[in-house]
Order: sequence, then structure tokens, then C-alpha cells
Amino acid sequence: MTTASGLTFDLKPSAHPTPAAEREAVLANPGFGRHFTDHMVTIRYSEGRGWYDAQLTPYAPLELDPATMVLHYGQEIFEGLKAYRQPDGSVATFRPETNAERFRRSARRLGMPELPVETFVEAIDVLVAQDGDWVPSGGEQSLYLRPFMIATEVGLGINRPAQEYLFMVIASPAGAYFPRGVNPVSVWLSKEYVRAAPGGTGEAKCGGNYAASFLAQAEAVRQGCDQVVWLDAVERRWVEEMGGMNLYFVRGTGDAATVVTPQLTGTLLPGVTRDSLLTIAADLGYGTAEERISTEDWRRGNEDGEFSEVFACGTAAVITPVGSVKSADASWSVGDGQPGEITMRLRQTLVGIQTGEIEDRHGWLHRVG
Ligand code: COI
Repeated sequence: MTTASGLTFDLKPSAHPTPAAEREAVLANPGFGRHFTDHMVTIRYSEGRGWYDAQLTPYAPLELDPATMVLHYGQEIFEGLKAYRQPDGSVATFRPETNAERFRRSARRLGMPELPVETFVEAIDVLVAQDGDWVPSGGEQSLYLRPFMIATEVGLGINRPAQEYLFMVIASPAGAYFPRGVNPVSVWLSKEYVRAAPGGTGEAKCGGNYAASFLAQAEAVRQGCDQVVWLDAVERRWVEEMGGMNLYFVRGTGDAATVVTPQLTGTLLPGVTRDSLLTIAADLGYGTAEERISTEDWRRGNEDGEFSEVFACGTAAVITPVGSVKSADASWSVGDGQPGEITMRLRQTLVGIQTGEIEDRHGWLHRVG
């Protein structure tokens, strides 16, 4: 199958796909990231040859030489996006070109080759078309797509980036990311650990950022909280992100509210959901702003009522309200600790667009097949 990008995908579907009854049992309660579809897409890259050997094959383990560079130096980037069942039974992905563009920027930061946007989108289309039966149709359910790229050159030298890479796409049916659904989470403000420093890899979606987050997340749990909130590395004062998600603050209430998100300084991940919500909030008539928000602003704003709601957003968990905040020297709650009205309105609108229930005014849905 030769695609618009000129790359030929060699389709080698599984002779033994999961029986329908087994698949339906998984789709009834998919959880998050626990089950994978029958196939995967792989594309190889080498310096000199460029992108080659695009294949769709049965989902299977990889065989890697123990000296493969990704295993030692973490040269890896990834994306996360979702495919949704539409009311007419068709399937659409949400803003795949936006993920493709971020993937290119992540690649650049990690010294990796930049996959053309159309090839990234085609690779996802090929997998979703093959495994379309795995796209659930239940409310709040989707097929989570995980494109990623690893350095596959064998060798331990670190004087240059690898010259061989493997790009892949795998897919996993998904229900709610947090087991408690849209119940508000409690957060721990981490002053000891930082996620990203100026000049580092904070705005790239690379595995290393997440590897470095687990200890702080464990500390948050030890402090009795659900999630860690990251502050800036220099002053440990400016609010950046929550776990793997961006944050939003609702200033004021009702139709006069403004939704405010920490501005992108180079150390925050430029989330696709974050970006979509700036547009959706404006469509709904709210003000929008990208600002620096300090921990003192947050505390004072919750206490004097400036901020009525706070929520986190990301592809995996969509929108999750924040109910309470704890740091080494203070604790406070957000609003009445319940999911806020504007938080839930934004959530319903976003999910409505993704699932085809609300008009897609911005051309965000990409039909597959
Ligand atoms: C997302 O919200 O999609 C994320 O990036 C979290 C993911 C790493 C599980």
C-alpha cells in the first residue's frame, strides 16, 4: 500500500487476531494502557537511507541487542492521541497533525530524525484502519494511540546521536485514566524535585521526563496526595504542570469567568488538550489567558475567591478537577472540593467534539478509512 507520502506500507495482518468475544470482553472494561490491539506499525530510519521498511505486522515483542543506544541513553520520544467512534459508526482521530508537529519538535530536541507529518498521520491511519474493531463505542471510551521512536543503533559511544531509529505505533483501548473517574484529585506541590529546567527537555515529550517524575509522584502519594504538581526549577514558585498534565485555573464565575493556564516558558509540555481548551473556552464565551501563576497566587486566589475552579488536562485523562492542594508549609482546598461547573462544561464540550456529538467547527477530527 503506497501512501500520499510516497512510503509503501507492507501490510502483514495477523493470521490469528483476537476472537470477537474476547475483544468485546476487553472493550467492556478496558482500563488504561493494559490491553493492546492485534497489530503495530513500524518504520525504520537510517542515516543515508532515510525512512524505509514501513510495515503493519502482528503486535509482538521487539528483539534488541543489549547495547542498543536507547537502552543506555534514553534517546526516545513519544506521543499520545486518541481515536473515537463517531455516531455514524466511523472512526476519527483528534488533531493528529498537531501531535505529528510536536513529535517533530521533540525529535529535534533529542537529536533524532524528524518524521514527516503526513507519514506520522498515515502510520496511525494504517493501524486504526486495520484494528478499527478495537475502537470502543462506550461513553468516555476511545482507542489510545501511542506513536514512539527509539534509537536502535548498537554502540555505547556518546559523541553523537544514533544514526538508526525505529518509529512505531501501538494502540490500546482506553476507559477512564484515573480509577475514580472525574472525582477531584488532591495535589502535592513538589519543592524538592523539578520536572524541567530552562534549556532542558521540558517541552519535548521524551521518556526521560517521565522517568524523572516517578520519585516525585511517589513522594506526593507518601504525603497523602493523588498527584504531584511541578514548580519552575529556578525559583520553585511558578506553577508548571500536574503529573503528566497541564493545569488550568478559572478566574471568576459564570459567564464572566476567564480560564487561565500557565504560559509556555519552554519548560512546560505544550499539550494538545491545553491548546484545544483555549479555543473551546473562547467559543463558549469565556475569557482566556496564558499567565505565570505562583503558588502564593494560587493559595490567595483560592482563599479570596479569585479562582473558583482548578483542573488538569491531558489526552489520557481529558479533564480532571483539582480538589485540594498541599505543600510543605500550607494546605488549602479549591472551591468546595467538588468538580466545578465550568470545568465540567469544558469537559463535556471537548468530549462532545471528539465523539461527534458537537459540531467540529475547527476541523479537528480526522476521519480514518
Ligand atoms: C496524557 O495526558 O496523554 C499524558 O501525556 C499522560 C500519558 C503519559 C499517560
